[in-house]
Amino acid sequence: MTGKSKQEHGGKPRKAAAPRKARKPRGGGAAGKARPIRERVFSGVQPTGNLHLGNYLGAIKRFVELQESHECIYCVVDMHAITVWQDPEALTRNTREVTAAFIAAGIDPDKQIVFNQSQVSGHAELAWIFSCVARLGWLNRMTQFKEKAGKSRENASVGLYAYPNLMAADILLYRATHVPVGEDQKQHLELARDIAQKFNTDFAESCARAGFEGGFFPLPEPLIAGPATRVMSLRDGTKKMSKSDPSDLARINMTDDADAIAKKIRKARTDPDPLPSEPAGLEGRPEAENLVGIFAALSGTSPEDVLATHGGSQFSDFKKELIALAIAEIGPIGAEMQRLMSDPAEIDRILCRGAARARQIADPNMRTVKDIVGFVVE
Ligand code: AMP
Ligand code: TRP
Repeated sequence: MTGKSKQEHGGKPRKAAAPRKARKPRGGGAAGKARPIRERVFSGVQPTGNLHLGNYLGAIKRFVELQESHECIYCVVDMHAITVWQDPEALTRNTREVTAAFIAAGIDPDKQIVFNQSQVSGHAELAWIFSCVARLGWLNRMTQFKEKAGKSRENASVGLYAYPNLMAADILLYRATHVPVGEDQKQHLELARDIAQKFNTDFAESCARAGFEGGFFPLPEPLIAGPATRVMSLRDGTKKMSKSDPSDLARINMTDDADAIAKKIRKARTDPDPLPSEPAGLEGRPEAENLVGIFAALSGTSPEDVLATHGGSQFSDFKKELIALAIAEIGPIGAEMQRLMSDPAEIDRILCRGAARARQIADPNMRTVKDIVGFVVE
Protein backbone atom coordinates (compact mmCIF):
# COMPACT_ATOMS: atom_id res chain seq x y z
CA MET A 1 0.00 0.00 0.00
CA THR A 2 1.17 3.47 -0.76
CA GLY A 3 -1.02 5.06 1.91
CA LYS A 4 -3.38 6.64 -0.62
CA SER A 5 -7.02 6.54 0.34
CA LYS A 6 -9.30 4.39 -1.73
CA GLN A 7 -10.86 6.18 -4.66
CA GLU A 8 -14.62 6.17 -4.28
CA HIS A 9 -16.53 4.69 -7.16
CA GLY A 10 -18.17 7.55 -8.96
CA GLY A 11 -15.71 10.01 -7.48
CA LYS A 12 -14.50 12.92 -9.56
CA PRO A 13 -12.91 11.36 -12.62
CA ARG A 14 -10.06 13.87 -12.97
CA LYS A 15 -9.13 13.31 -9.34
CA ALA A 16 -8.55 9.66 -10.16
CA ALA A 17 -6.23 10.63 -12.98
CA ALA A 18 -4.42 13.51 -11.31
CA PRO A 19 -1.83 11.67 -9.19
CA ARG A 20 -0.68 9.69 -12.20
CA LYS A 21 2.87 11.06 -12.07
CA ALA A 22 3.21 10.87 -8.30
CA ARG A 23 3.58 7.14 -8.17
CA LYS A 24 5.35 4.75 -10.44
CA PRO A 25 3.61 1.44 -10.72
CA ARG A 26 5.57 -1.63 -11.68
CA GLY A 27 6.75 -1.62 -15.24
CA GLY A 28 5.71 1.95 -16.00
CA GLY A 29 9.27 3.25 -16.04
CA ALA A 30 11.07 4.96 -18.87
CA ALA A 31 13.15 3.05 -21.38
CA GLY A 32 16.44 1.71 -20.09
CA LYS A 33 15.59 1.58 -16.36
CA ALA A 34 15.79 -1.75 -14.59
CA ARG A 35 12.25 -2.53 -13.36
CA PRO A 36 10.72 -5.72 -12.03
CA ILE A 37 8.46 -5.91 -15.09
CA ARG A 38 9.97 -6.09 -18.53
CA GLU A 39 9.01 -3.42 -21.00
CA ARG A 40 6.43 -4.79 -23.35
CA VAL A 41 5.01 -3.25 -26.51
CA PHE A 42 1.38 -3.75 -27.55
CA SER A 43 -0.50 -2.26 -30.47
CA GLY A 44 -3.51 -3.01 -32.62
CA VAL A 45 -4.87 -2.30 -36.08
CA GLN A 46 -8.51 -2.71 -37.09
CA PRO A 47 -9.33 -5.06 -39.98
CA THR A 48 -11.59 -2.56 -41.71
CA GLY A 49 -10.02 -2.63 -45.18
CA ASN A 50 -7.94 -0.19 -47.23
CA LEU A 51 -4.79 -0.17 -45.11
CA HIS A 52 -3.01 3.00 -46.17
CA LEU A 53 0.20 5.02 -45.97
CA GLY A 54 -0.99 6.63 -42.70
CA ASN A 55 -1.37 3.21 -41.07
CA TYR A 56 2.05 2.29 -42.36
CA LEU A 57 4.03 5.41 -41.44
CA GLY A 58 2.08 6.23 -38.25
CA ALA A 59 1.96 2.69 -36.87
CA ILE A 60 3.18 -0.42 -38.72
CA LYS A 61 6.61 0.93 -39.65
CA ARG A 62 7.16 1.79 -35.97
CA PHE A 63 6.04 -1.71 -34.95
CA VAL A 64 8.80 -3.14 -37.10
CA GLU A 65 11.46 -0.87 -35.59
CA LEU A 66 10.42 -1.70 -32.01
CA GLN A 67 10.87 -5.43 -32.41
CA GLU A 68 14.64 -4.88 -32.43
CA SER A 69 14.58 -3.63 -28.84
CA HIS A 70 11.37 -5.00 -27.28
CA GLU A 71 9.10 -7.95 -26.76
CA CYS A 72 6.11 -7.00 -28.93
CA ILE A 73 2.50 -8.09 -29.23
CA TYR A 74 0.68 -7.00 -32.38
CA CYS A 75 -3.04 -7.59 -32.58
CA VAL A 76 -5.58 -7.49 -35.37
CA VAL A 77 -8.47 -5.98 -33.43
CA ASP A 78 -11.48 -7.65 -35.04
CA MET A 79 -13.66 -6.97 -31.99
CA HIS A 80 -13.03 -3.25 -32.40
CA ALA A 81 -13.93 -3.50 -36.08
CA ILE A 82 -17.49 -4.70 -35.41
CA THR A 83 -18.34 -1.55 -33.45
CA VAL A 84 -19.52 -0.44 -36.91
CA TRP A 85 -21.15 -2.89 -39.32
CA GLN A 86 -18.74 -5.31 -41.04
CA ASP A 87 -19.72 -7.75 -43.72
CA PRO A 88 -18.59 -11.12 -42.27
CA GLU A 89 -16.69 -12.25 -45.36
CA ALA A 90 -14.97 -8.92 -45.69
CA LEU A 91 -14.02 -9.01 -41.99
CA THR A 92 -12.31 -12.38 -42.45
CA ARG A 93 -10.48 -11.17 -45.57
CA ASN A 94 -9.43 -7.91 -43.92
CA THR A 95 -8.16 -9.74 -40.84
CA ARG A 96 -5.87 -11.75 -43.08
CA GLU A 97 -4.87 -8.61 -44.96
CA VAL A 98 -3.73 -6.77 -41.82
CA THR A 99 -1.80 -9.88 -40.74
CA ALA A 100 -0.16 -10.01 -44.17
CA ALA A 101 0.71 -6.30 -43.91
CA PHE A 102 2.42 -6.83 -40.54
CA ILE A 103 4.51 -9.68 -41.91
CA ALA A 104 5.23 -8.08 -45.29
CA ALA A 105 6.42 -4.92 -43.53
CA GLY A 106 8.94 -6.98 -41.57
CA ILE A 107 7.34 -8.18 -38.33
CA ASP A 108 8.60 -11.66 -37.52
CA PRO A 109 5.64 -13.73 -36.24
CA ASP A 110 7.98 -16.36 -34.83
CA LYS A 111 9.69 -13.84 -32.58
CA GLN A 112 6.81 -11.47 -31.81
CA ILE A 113 3.21 -12.37 -31.05
CA VAL A 114 0.81 -11.69 -33.94
CA PHE A 115 -2.84 -12.71 -33.46
CA ASN A 116 -6.44 -11.62 -33.77
CA GLN A 117 -8.19 -10.26 -30.71
CA SER A 118 -11.33 -12.43 -30.70
CA GLN A 119 -9.26 -15.60 -30.21
CA VAL A 120 -8.23 -14.52 -26.71
CA SER A 121 -11.27 -14.24 -24.44
CA GLY A 122 -9.45 -12.15 -21.83
CA HIS A 123 -9.89 -9.02 -23.98
CA ALA A 124 -13.67 -9.12 -23.61
CA GLU A 125 -13.54 -10.14 -19.95
CA LEU A 126 -11.17 -7.36 -18.93
CA ALA A 127 -13.11 -4.84 -21.06
CA TRP A 128 -16.20 -5.57 -18.96
CA ILE A 129 -14.32 -4.94 -15.72
CA PHE A 130 -12.95 -1.71 -17.20
CA SER A 131 -16.46 -0.68 -18.24
CA CYS A 132 -17.19 -0.74 -14.52
CA VAL A 133 -14.05 1.26 -13.69
CA ALA A 134 -14.24 3.97 -16.38
CA ARG A 135 -16.70 6.81 -15.76
CA LEU A 136 -19.34 7.99 -18.22
CA GLY A 137 -17.85 11.46 -18.04
CA TRP A 138 -14.51 10.14 -19.29
CA LEU A 139 -16.03 8.43 -22.31
CA ASN A 140 -18.23 11.43 -23.08
CA ARG A 141 -15.08 13.39 -23.85
CA MET A 142 -13.78 10.99 -26.52
CA THR A 143 -13.57 12.91 -29.77
CA GLN A 144 -13.32 9.80 -31.96
CA PHE A 145 -16.76 8.65 -30.81
CA LYS A 146 -18.19 12.08 -31.57
CA GLU A 147 -16.65 12.03 -35.05
CA LYS A 148 -17.64 8.45 -35.87
CA ALA A 149 -21.15 8.63 -34.43
CA GLY A 150 -21.74 11.98 -36.13
CA LYS A 151 -25.24 13.36 -35.96
CA SER A 152 -26.93 10.00 -35.52
CA ARG A 153 -25.57 9.36 -32.05
CA GLU A 154 -28.75 7.61 -30.91
CA ASN A 155 -28.16 5.10 -33.63
CA ALA A 156 -24.48 4.35 -32.89
CA SER A 157 -23.71 0.96 -31.34
CA VAL A 158 -23.08 0.72 -27.60
CA GLY A 159 -19.79 -0.93 -28.59
CA LEU A 160 -18.64 2.18 -30.46
CA TYR A 161 -19.14 4.19 -27.28
CA ALA A 162 -17.40 1.63 -25.03
CA TYR A 163 -14.60 1.04 -27.57
CA PRO A 164 -11.88 2.82 -25.52
CA ASN A 165 -12.52 0.45 -22.59
CA LEU A 166 -11.80 -2.49 -24.87
CA MET A 167 -8.66 -0.75 -26.13
CA ALA A 168 -7.46 -0.26 -22.53
CA ALA A 169 -8.16 -3.96 -21.90
CA ASP A 170 -6.13 -4.97 -24.98
CA ILE A 171 -3.07 -3.21 -23.64
CA LEU A 172 -3.42 -3.93 -19.95
CA LEU A 173 -4.32 -7.61 -20.32
CA TYR A 174 -0.63 -8.04 -21.16
CA ARG A 175 0.49 -5.34 -18.70
CA ALA A 176 2.09 -3.67 -21.72
CA THR A 177 4.18 -0.59 -21.01
CA HIS A 178 4.56 1.01 -24.46
CA VAL A 179 2.02 1.56 -27.21
CA PRO A 180 3.07 2.78 -30.67
CA VAL A 181 0.13 4.55 -32.37
CA GLY A 182 -0.69 7.48 -34.62
CA GLU A 183 -1.66 10.86 -33.18
CA ASP A 184 -5.40 10.11 -33.43
CA GLN A 185 -5.12 7.51 -30.64
CA LYS A 186 -3.53 9.82 -28.07
CA GLN A 187 -6.77 10.50 -26.22
CA HIS A 188 -7.60 6.79 -26.02
CA LEU A 189 -4.17 6.11 -24.54
CA GLU A 190 -4.72 8.77 -21.91
CA LEU A 191 -7.98 7.08 -21.03
CA ALA A 192 -6.20 3.72 -20.73
CA ARG A 193 -3.80 5.33 -18.25
CA ASP A 194 -6.69 6.80 -16.29
CA ILE A 195 -8.38 3.39 -16.15
CA ALA A 196 -5.17 1.67 -15.00
CA GLN A 197 -4.66 4.34 -12.36
CA LYS A 198 -8.22 4.15 -11.05
CA PHE A 199 -8.13 0.34 -10.94
CA ASN A 200 -4.84 0.42 -9.01
CA THR A 201 -6.26 2.99 -6.58
CA ASP A 202 -9.70 1.44 -6.12
CA PHE A 203 -8.21 -2.01 -5.55
CA ALA A 204 -4.99 -0.91 -3.85
CA GLU A 205 -5.45 -3.19 -0.86
CA SER A 206 -6.28 -6.33 -2.77
CA CYS A 207 -3.53 -5.59 -5.31
CA ALA A 208 -1.09 -5.52 -2.39
CA ARG A 209 -2.60 -8.72 -0.97
CA ALA A 210 -2.03 -10.37 -4.35
CA GLY A 211 1.60 -9.27 -4.19
CA PHE A 212 1.35 -6.14 -6.33
CA GLU A 213 2.27 -3.32 -4.04
CA GLY A 214 1.63 -0.05 -5.89
CA GLY A 215 -0.97 -1.56 -8.22
CA PHE A 216 -1.30 -4.37 -10.75
CA PHE A 217 -1.29 -2.36 -13.96
CA PRO A 218 1.51 -0.23 -15.41
CA LEU A 219 0.49 3.14 -16.84
CA PRO A 220 1.12 2.53 -20.56
CA GLU A 221 3.14 5.12 -22.43
CA PRO A 222 2.07 6.22 -25.89
CA LEU A 223 4.85 6.16 -28.48
CA ILE A 224 3.82 8.84 -30.97
CA ALA A 225 6.86 10.12 -32.78
CA GLY A 226 8.42 10.90 -36.13
CA PRO A 227 7.38 13.15 -38.99
CA ALA A 228 4.22 11.21 -39.98
CA THR A 229 2.13 10.65 -36.87
CA ARG A 230 -0.80 12.20 -38.70
CA VAL A 231 -0.76 11.65 -42.46
CA MET A 232 -3.39 13.76 -44.20
CA SER A 233 -5.62 13.08 -47.21
CA LEU A 234 -3.95 13.67 -50.57
CA ARG A 235 -7.10 15.53 -51.69
CA ASP A 236 -7.57 17.75 -48.63
CA GLY A 237 -4.66 18.57 -46.33
CA THR A 238 -7.01 19.37 -43.44
CA LYS A 239 -8.51 15.86 -43.32
CA LYS A 240 -6.83 12.74 -41.97
CA MET A 241 -5.93 10.06 -44.51
CA SER A 242 -8.57 7.44 -43.75
CA LYS A 243 -9.67 3.95 -44.73
CA SER A 244 -13.21 5.16 -45.21
CA ASP A 245 -12.59 8.17 -47.48
CA PRO A 246 -14.91 7.63 -50.46
CA SER A 247 -12.19 8.86 -52.83
CA ASP A 248 -9.45 6.27 -53.39
CA LEU A 249 -7.27 9.14 -54.67
CA ALA A 250 -7.18 10.52 -51.13
CA ARG A 251 -4.98 7.70 -49.87
CA ILE A 252 -2.13 5.45 -50.94
CA ASN A 253 -3.15 1.90 -50.13
CA MET A 254 -0.47 -0.50 -48.96
CA THR A 255 -1.50 -2.80 -51.82
CA ASP A 256 -1.29 -0.11 -54.54
CA ASP A 257 1.09 -0.91 -57.38
CA ALA A 258 3.70 1.49 -58.76
CA ASP A 259 1.33 3.02 -61.33
CA ALA A 260 -1.37 3.71 -58.76
CA ILE A 261 1.13 5.24 -56.33
CA ALA A 262 2.58 7.49 -59.05
CA LYS A 263 -0.84 8.61 -60.24
CA LYS A 264 -2.10 9.45 -56.75
CA ILE A 265 0.97 11.49 -55.82
CA ARG A 266 0.91 13.29 -59.19
CA LYS A 267 -2.71 14.20 -58.60
CA ALA A 268 -2.18 15.13 -54.93
CA ARG A 269 -3.46 18.59 -54.18
CA THR A 270 -0.83 21.32 -53.67
CA ASP A 271 -0.72 25.12 -53.75
CA PRO A 272 0.87 27.36 -56.40
CA ASP A 273 3.95 28.47 -54.43
CA PRO A 274 7.33 26.72 -54.50
CA LEU A 275 8.45 24.85 -51.36
CA PRO A 276 9.81 27.01 -48.53
CA SER A 277 13.32 26.39 -47.23
CA GLU A 278 12.25 25.91 -43.59
CA PRO A 279 9.26 24.47 -41.71
CA ALA A 280 7.93 27.88 -40.61
CA GLY A 281 7.11 28.52 -44.27
CA LEU A 282 4.64 25.61 -44.25
CA GLU A 283 2.30 27.52 -41.93
CA GLY A 284 -1.17 27.66 -43.48
CA ARG A 285 -0.13 25.27 -46.29
CA PRO A 286 -1.53 21.91 -45.08
CA GLU A 287 -1.07 20.04 -48.37
CA ALA A 288 2.58 21.11 -48.66
CA GLU A 289 3.17 20.26 -45.01
CA ASN A 290 1.68 16.81 -45.52
CA LEU A 291 3.82 15.95 -48.55
CA VAL A 292 6.95 17.18 -46.78
CA GLY A 293 6.09 15.02 -43.73
CA ILE A 294 5.54 11.96 -45.90
CA PHE A 295 8.81 12.62 -47.74
CA ALA A 296 10.69 12.93 -44.42
CA ALA A 297 9.15 9.72 -43.04
CA LEU A 298 9.91 7.74 -46.19
CA SER A 299 13.47 9.00 -46.42
CA GLY A 300 14.18 8.63 -42.69
CA THR A 301 14.95 12.33 -42.28
CA SER A 302 13.12 15.35 -40.84
CA PRO A 303 11.01 18.10 -42.46
CA GLU A 304 13.91 20.51 -41.75
CA ASP A 305 16.30 18.32 -43.77
CA VAL A 306 13.79 17.86 -46.59
CA LEU A 307 13.24 21.62 -46.90
CA ALA A 308 16.95 22.40 -46.61
CA THR A 309 17.41 20.29 -49.76
CA HIS A 310 14.20 21.06 -51.63
CA GLY A 311 13.42 24.66 -50.59
CA GLY A 312 12.59 26.69 -53.72
CA SER A 313 11.62 23.58 -55.76
CA GLN A 314 8.37 23.37 -57.68
CA PHE A 315 5.97 20.66 -56.59
CA SER A 316 6.28 18.92 -59.96
CA ASP A 317 9.97 18.17 -59.30
CA PHE A 318 9.47 17.41 -55.62
CA LYS A 319 6.67 14.97 -56.45
CA LYS A 320 8.92 13.04 -58.85
CA GLU A 321 11.32 12.25 -56.01
CA LEU A 322 8.46 11.52 -53.64
CA ILE A 323 6.98 9.04 -56.13
CA ALA A 324 10.30 7.21 -56.38
CA LEU A 325 10.61 7.02 -52.60
CA ALA A 326 7.04 5.80 -52.11
CA ILE A 327 7.29 3.14 -54.81
CA ALA A 328 10.61 1.89 -53.42
CA GLU A 329 9.14 1.43 -49.94
CA ILE A 330 5.47 0.53 -50.44
CA GLY A 331 5.75 -1.36 -53.74
CA PRO A 332 7.59 -4.44 -52.39
CA ILE A 333 5.41 -4.54 -49.26
CA GLY A 334 2.21 -4.53 -51.34
CA ALA A 335 3.56 -7.28 -53.59
CA GLU A 336 4.53 -9.41 -50.58
CA MET A 337 1.08 -8.84 -49.04
CA GLN A 338 -0.55 -10.17 -52.21
CA ARG A 339 1.73 -13.20 -52.15
CA LEU A 340 0.96 -13.97 -48.50
CA MET A 341 -2.77 -13.54 -49.01
CA SER A 342 -2.76 -16.18 -51.72
CA ASP A 343 -2.29 -18.74 -48.92
CA PRO A 344 -5.00 -17.85 -46.35
CA ALA A 345 -4.60 -21.17 -44.49
CA GLU A 346 -1.00 -20.28 -43.63
CA ILE A 347 -2.08 -16.84 -42.34
CA ASP A 348 -4.75 -18.49 -40.19
CA ARG A 349 -2.13 -20.86 -38.74
CA ILE A 350 0.08 -17.89 -37.84
CA LEU A 351 -2.86 -16.21 -36.08
CA CYS A 352 -3.73 -19.40 -34.16
CA ARG A 353 -0.17 -19.87 -32.99
CA GLY A 354 0.01 -16.22 -31.98
CA ALA A 355 -3.26 -16.51 -30.04
CA ALA A 356 -1.99 -19.54 -28.12
CA ARG A 357 1.12 -17.60 -27.11
CA ALA A 358 -0.95 -14.53 -26.22
CA ARG A 359 -3.15 -16.65 -23.93
CA GLN A 360 -0.08 -17.82 -22.03
CA ILE A 361 0.42 -14.22 -20.91
CA ALA A 362 -3.24 -13.18 -20.76
CA ASP A 363 -4.72 -16.10 -18.80
CA PRO A 364 -2.61 -15.82 -15.64
CA ASN A 365 -3.01 -12.02 -15.68
CA MET A 366 -6.77 -12.36 -16.01
CA ARG A 367 -6.85 -14.82 -13.13
CA THR A 368 -4.98 -12.34 -10.93
CA VAL A 369 -7.34 -9.52 -11.96
CA LYS A 370 -10.36 -11.65 -11.03
CA ASP A 371 -8.78 -12.44 -7.69
CA ILE A 372 -8.03 -8.74 -7.09
CA VAL A 373 -11.63 -7.78 -7.94
CA GLY A 374 -12.98 -10.44 -5.59
CA PHE A 375 -14.40 -12.90 -8.09
CA VAL A 376 -14.24 -16.49 -6.84
CA VAL A 377 -11.66 -18.28 -8.95
CA GLU A 378 -10.65 -21.88 -9.17
P1 AMP B 1 -6.87 2.07 -37.54
O1 AMP B 1 -6.85 1.97 -39.01
O2 AMP B 1 -7.83 3.10 -37.05
O3 AMP B 1 -7.01 0.76 -36.83
O4 AMP B 1 -5.43 2.60 -37.14
C1 AMP B 1 -4.30 1.76 -37.01
C2 AMP B 1 -3.10 2.59 -36.62
O5 AMP B 1 -2.78 3.51 -37.67
C3 AMP B 1 -3.33 3.45 -35.36
O6 AMP B 1 -2.13 3.46 -34.60
C4 AMP B 1 -3.61 4.82 -35.92
O7 AMP B 1 -3.27 5.84 -35.03
C5 AMP B 1 -2.72 4.83 -37.15
N1 AMP B 1 -3.26 5.76 -38.17
C6 AMP B 1 -4.47 5.68 -38.78
N2 AMP B 1 -4.64 6.68 -39.66
C7 AMP B 1 -3.49 7.41 -39.62
C8 AMP B 1 -3.03 8.59 -40.32
N3 AMP B 1 -3.78 9.19 -41.23
N4 AMP B 1 -1.79 9.05 -40.02
C9 AMP B 1 -1.01 8.44 -39.10
N5 AMP B 1 -1.39 7.34 -38.41
C10 AMP B 1 -2.61 6.83 -38.66
N1 TRP C 1 -8.17 2.03 -31.55
C1 TRP C 1 -7.05 1.77 -32.41
C2 TRP C 1 -7.32 2.42 -33.78
O1 TRP C 1 -8.41 2.63 -34.18
C3 TRP C 1 -6.81 0.31 -32.61
C4 TRP C 1 -6.51 -0.37 -31.31
C5 TRP C 1 -7.33 -1.21 -30.62
C6 TRP C 1 -5.32 -0.25 -30.55
N2 TRP C 1 -6.73 -1.64 -29.49
C7 TRP C 1 -5.50 -1.08 -29.41
C8 TRP C 1 -4.13 0.46 -30.72
C9 TRP C 1 -4.52 -1.18 -28.42
C10 TRP C 1 -3.15 0.35 -29.71
C11 TRP C 1 -3.35 -0.45 -28.58
O2 TRP C 1 -6.39 2.68 -34.47
